[in-house]
This record gives sequence, C-alpha cells and structure tokens, in this order.
Amino acid sequence: MSIPSSDLNALVSSGVPGLAATFRQLSDLYLLAEGGYEPIQGFLNSAQTRSVCRTMHLSTGEPWSIPVVFPIDSATKERIVGAERLVLMDGDAPAGLLHVEEIFPIEKELYAESIFRTQDEAHPGVQWLRGAGEYSIAATAEICSDWKLDVPGSLPISPRETAALVRAKGWRTVVGFQTRNPIHRAHEFCTKIALETADGLVIHPLLGETKADDTPAEVRLACYDVLMRNYYPADHAMLAGFPAWMRYAGPREAIFHAQVRKNYGITHFIVGRDHAGVGDYYGPFDAQRIFSDFQPGELGVEPVFFDFVHYCRVCGGMASKKTCPHPPEHHVHLAGRAVRQMLREGKLPPSEFTRPEIAEILIAAAREAA
Ligand code: ADX
Repeated sequence: MSIPSSDLNALVSSGVPGLAATFRQLSDLYLLAEGGYEPIQGFLNSAQTRSVCRTMHLSTGEPWSIPVVFPIDSATKERIVGAERLVLMDGDAPAGLLHVEEIFPIEKELYAESIFRTQDEAHPGVQWLRGAGEYSIAATAEICSDWKLDVPGSLPISPRETAALVRAKGWRTVVGFQTRNPIHRAHEFCTKIALETADGLVIHPLLGETKADDTPAEVRLACYDVLMRNYYPADHAMLAGFPAWMRYAGPREAIFHAQVRKNYGITHFIVGRDHAGVGDYYGPFDAQRIFSDFQPGELGVEPVFFDFVHYCRVCGGMASKKTCPHPPEHHVHLAGRAVRQMLREGKLPPSEFTRPEIAEILIAAAREAA
C-alpha cells in the first residue's frame, strides 16, 4: 500500500506526529513496504522480536533470523506516546506512515548475544545496537508513493520489480550473490561456478549503510559495471541492487540474506567463507553451518556453499581448499587490510587477486578519498 505525500502532509497538519527516520530505518521501511521482508509485514513487536532472537522463527512459526526493529530514544517515546499513527520523515519529505501496534523496550543483551553472538562494542552491529534508542516501535508500514529511497546508482532495488525482471528472462533456477565488496577474482569464481549449474545469476550488491572502512557503494558500482560489461554474459547474468543495511551478523545475516533474496525471484544463494562476517567474531564456515538448523526447503531458497577460494599457481587457476591439493605458499590471497593498504599506496594487487580494471578504479577512489 502506498500513500501520496499530500495526504501525509495533511496528516501532520492535523496533528499526527512526524518522526525523523535514520537511513537504516528508511531502508527497512522500503523493504517492508515493497514485500522484501516477507513473511514479516512490519517492524516486529516484543513477542516476535524475542521469538526471533531465541528460535530464529516468528511466533507464528515461519523462519526469520534477524528482528527488524525501529529503535527510538526515551524522549521520542514520551513525545509520541498514545499516537496510533506516525508519519516517517526523510529530511523534509514524508517517506511513509506507521500504524503503531506497540512501543516496547529492546532487550539489548538478548539481541546482541543471539544475533551478533557477542556483547563486544567493537563489533559494528553491537555498536549500532548500543547507540540505538532503548525502545522500539512495532508497526505496519505504508510507503509514500512519491518518495524514493536514496541509494547510490540507478539499479532496480525493488523486490517486486527485480522478481519481474528475473521472470521475464525465463530462468528457472536463479543464483543470487550478495556482496558488500568490489568483485575480486574469488567472488567472480564463486558466481561463475554457481552459474555453470543454474539458468541465471543475479549479482546483488548491498547498497544500504555499511561501516566506514568498507568500499563505498558508488565506487563498487563502477567496478560492477566494468565487470558486467566485459566479463559476464548478458543473457545469463544481471545486476540489481539490494537496499538493506549491513548488520555484520555473520551466520544470522546469511539466513536473512538468503531468505530475503527469495522475494527478489532468486532460487539459490551463494554463501562462501565468512559470509557477512567482520573481524574474528565468527568461524569462517559458521554462516554455512547455520543452514542445517532449518528443515530442508524451509527457507524457500537453496544455499550454494563455497569453501575458501584462492588462485593457485600450481593449479594455474582459481580453486578452493576443496579442489586444490597444494599448500598455501602456492596460493594468491590477500587480506582486506593488505589490499586497502596497497590501493592507498597506488599499487596494483596481483591480477590473480583482482582484475587490473577493478584495481584502477579502486586506486583512483583511494586517491580521491585521501
Ligand atoms: S559479505 O559481507 O557480503 O558476505 P563479501 O562481499 O566479501 O562480504 O562476500 C560476498 C560473498 O562471497 C559471501 O558469500 C562470502 O562468503 C563470499 N566470499 C568472499 N570471498 C571469498 C573467498 N575468498 N572464498 C570463498 N567465498 C568468498
């Protein structure tokens, strides 16, 4: 359901409280309203939030791994107490309407422990949670018909629109690839190996908020564009945007990423090494193991697992720990930090790690940011 801005402005004039939303909240509003988060229909209430934290299922039984909450501080809670509706504002523009069901205190320790598996404030997800308000608004959401979520680029981001584009291709099996990084050779290898056994591939970069030292989406989009034009077949691969924000919740987020992609028309979803991970908070394959906590078919999308992928000088190509018998001294693999350092110094990483065209874009961006 959507509602014109003139109606929302009229509601504010008639006394319905307006509420400034953060970019993360707007991103969740958009995905909720566009069916991206089905089966959930709104910002979760206290019982559903607890149920998702404890059981990875909604109280109604459907799988769901990350509570979508709408944090507010106590001053805001006092201001809106008793309101049945709230107009969400994106700066000066109305973005949507919340139909309030409940305002409840967020059980932050339970949330951090079950979703992020840590209480450490150095974890970006825990940092967000600690900094977020103490309360959450449970509500269903309507989106403003003349509002647009302001993500970089011009890729389709709507689940319904993307699913229709996928359907129009006539693909029966469709592999989805989540990424918050430029596509290096290991990523490319995973996508192409998966595409070998599927009809189509959707490269689906996350375009919502990420942590400050991740490569900005604008820069990544330039990289994806080069790759799509030169290295992926147009009749079997497409690029679309995923407007969610990164939680860095590793295993829990792998389930969330997979399940949400079903709403984008994707049937199979790549989960490689340390999916949605950060630092050393998760084991490299915890995000694969967690899929066995669900019944076969329960998530409605099939995971496609990859072991640690690298270039092997002896094999003379990309391989994984599963397919390459040679010891690590023959492998070309760089840690993210080392790559960032090279790029800052204007040095090209080895072409077995990243394609030179991609490295050039990243070096230019690093130079501009300095
Ligand atoms: S993520 O936060 O979006 O998961 P990234 O963009 O680096 O980060 O990874 C995208 C996908 O590629 C994830 O499924 C990740 O596990 C996988 N991946 C990245 N690098 C490798 C690698 N060297 N070997 C295997 N899988 C990888």
